[in-house]
Amino acid sequence: MSSTRASASPLFVPHKASRAEQRAARAGFAEARHKARLAGTPPKHRAEQTLDPELRPTYPPAGRPGASSARGGKLRLPVHRMTTATASGAYPFVAEGGLGAEGVFIGRDVHAEAAFCFDPFSLYNSGRIEDFTNPNVVLAGIIGMGKSALAKSIATRSIAHGYRIYIPCDPKGEWTSVAQALGGYSIALGPGLPGRLNPLDAPARPASVSKEDWATEVRKRRLLLLGSLARTVLKRDLLPMEHTALDLALDLVVAEAAARGTVPLLGEIAHALGSPERLDHALGHQAGHLGSAAQDLAHALRRLVHGDLSGMFDAPSTVAFDPTAPMLSIDLSRLGGSGDDTALVLAMTCASAWMESALADPHGGRRWVIYDEAWRLMRHVGLLERMQSQWKLSRGLGIANLMIIHRLSDLLSAGDAGSRGRVLAEGLLADCSTRIIYRQEPDQLDAAASLLGLTGVETQAVSALTKGRGLWKVAGRSFITQHILHPAERELFDTDARMSENSAEFTNPEALSALRVQEVRR
Ligand SMILES: Nc1ncnc2c1ncn2[C@@H]1O[C@H](COP(=O)(O)OP(=O)(O)O)[C@@H](O)[C@H]1O
Ligand SMILES: [Mg+2]
Repeated sequence: MSSTRASASPLFVPHKASRAEQRAARAGFAEARHKARLAGTPPKHRAEQTLDPELRPTYPPAGRPGASSARGGKLRLPVHRMTTATASGAYPFVAEGGLGAEGVFIGRDVHAEAAFCFDPFSLYNSGRIEDFTNPNVVLAGIIGMGKSALAKSIATRSIAHGYRIYIPCDPKGEWTSVAQALGGYSIALGPGLPGRLNPLDAPARPASVSKEDWATEVRKRRLLLLGSLARTVLKRDLLPMEHTALDLALDLVVAEAAARGTVPLLGEIAHALGSPERLDHALGHQAGHLGSAAQDLAHALRRLVHGDLSGMFDAPSTVAFDPTAPMLSIDLSRLGGSGDDTALVLAMTCASAWMESALADPHGGRRWVIYDEAWRLMRHVGLLERMQSQWKLSRGLGIANLMIIHRLSDLLSAGDAGSRGRVLAEGLLADCSTRIIYRQEPDQLDAAASLLGLTGVETQAVSALTKGRGLWKVAGRSFITQHILHPAERELFDTDARMSENSAEFTNPEALSALRVQEVRR
């Protein structure tokens, strides 16, 4: 055996060294260790500058707080013996493997520390995930957590994958700059603006659909639209006679327009509903007072023709739908500034009907239809019905719908338990295989947990999510994902810009020095 002793430290202390030498070596070692420790912890202000908030771990280095973390020796488990083969299978500390590398890059999976990509169609077609039955997505979270930013990133990045993006209603007008920057366009509607959309426009017939089938399809869409407009204004369901009246009025107007070679207009429908003799005459042998039963309907549709929305939806469209544009949004920000949502909802109905009928071509390629601020639509059964039919069609048409709401209880505001609105809203949620939950208010956690079947750990995680971070439930699999914005995207999507415009004046050093110069001159 050798008479000298070695340690793993770089400092080598011979056995026979004198006490003085040993002391000097120990002092040198202590100093080196101190230096190493200092080098590991940079000064505080530097740490703040360099630590990217997006890259913060979800939990502190000591792990998840609370009793269930089993720190402090509180957790007592009975001894359990097993083979190493079983132990390796039972190992609990495993992060999800992610959804694969197909699709657009979203950001970082914070548990697996891996890139997170998402493409509803590749997931749907590959069948890699069980129960992934549709490409629709619901995104819920409180204001300012980055929901719109995520939707805009998905849209922007999907264009590179050949998708086209449609925003049927943009109540805040925040998609206009995005659409323009990406080579698309935006139609602004509002009092005094030149834009007009005729929601009764018949879209071009896809080559694969026969003439008769297409005529039936167009008629069905128009009836659905008229029904939801009437229901929104009347705030009730339609009576059987009113349905008949709508039917007849539509057929009358369409026949007249076809004879003239023009497109049918909403005003003409309202006019036909307001002429009792014409309706009774059209009904023929079935005696009844259809004319008088349609009075409520006539007044309801009049609002679109002569009321606050006059002109916007009662004239031939001023723009043609361009199926080659990568992005199209309908800016409704000039509407509905007052507390009453009805005008905005009517406009959304007309605008989305116009756009959705233009999207009916099954060969139109893959498309995202994004309903930003969709919570405003949830209270209106007519709109829910239209959305539901759109949802059902989505797979066949190659469309993925993305609906953005604030809280999951927005879905419950559609009506009492068991009511038609509630059933429709719950159906919409069930038809979204992907649910993305951003931060929720504490009082919303229970509703979210029960609607989505969240576990205790997931519920706790949702309450602590930071900006851009969300719980993604993809057909039963869960991920916590940090959405990473490119600096160029951040600039383009910035909705805080308007809020910080004024403060920028005071943080801009040039503006400050200019102020000082003025003061000195005084
Ligand atoms: N992942 C993110 N990283 C950094 N900033 C973000 C992120 N997501 C959103 N933001 C910023 O937060 C602000 C609010 O986002 P926004 O998408 O408008 O919120 P919401 O639609 O949820 O109300 C925007 O100015 C945006 O630039
Ligand atoms: Mg938003």
